Amino acid sequence: MGIQIAPSVLNSDLANLAGEIERLKGADLVHLDVMDGHFVPNLTLGLPVVEAVIRRGILPVDAHLMIENPDRWAPAYAEAGCASVTFHAEAAMAPVVLAREIRTQGARACLALRPATDIAAYEDLLGEFDQILIMTVEPGFGGQSFIESMLPKIERTRAAIARRGLQVRVQVDGGISQATIERAAAAGADVFVAGSAVFRADDAAAEIARLRELAQGACRH
Ligand code: DX5
Ligand code: ZN
Repeated sequence: MGIQIAPSVLNSDLANLAGEIERLKGADLVHLDVMDGHFVPNLTLGLPVVEAVIRRGILPVDAHLMIENPDRWAPAYAEAGCASVTFHAEAAMAPVVLAREIRTQGARACLALRPATDIAAYEDLLGEFDQILIMTVEPGFGGQSFIESMLPKIERTRAAIARRGLQVRVQVDGGISQATIERAAAAGADVFVAGSAVFRADDAAAEIARLRELAQGACRH
């Protein structure tokens, strides 16, 4: 499994969303941050906007649901045609049931962990997921700085996956830039969300290419 770069549009010009996604030449996915104003102190977009982005067909959609009660709301994002649907461990009542429902709808199921949530309790469940998202900032806002102390958790997650012989991706989200992506890749991440790093760059495509190159150089997997 190769490296994937999934730029987040959270800090882009949301009044010109399709135009902003068109700038992401060379990206593997577009990362859409769904926030409900309860699970995180911010409110962004929901299913109608995600469906509209899918209809444009510019890039496959990686939906990151920072919402309460994903058990109720997440399956519709899979049904709408998202390539992957990420819900938070802290919010889900029945993560295994939910992951199976997402997979049944044809999307990849991804479990996200806030910085203070350990992977230990989920290690035996890894086979139920296609991807684990290790948040490298507190979810809610773009432009925050990478939390270095998440590196051991990335390593533990990658090791737990390898011990079980599974093909589960490890995604990182928050503060990923040219300054941090190599450390995350060396620790075991293979899917990288980058918001402000990509949208602050004059040439988003060149930034994506550079991030990919750095991650590939540092990745041991
Ligand atoms: C934060 C979001 C991230 C955010 C990343 O809660 O989940 O996807 O957009 O933005 P940067 O790359 O600026 O940290
Ligand atoms: Zn995100």
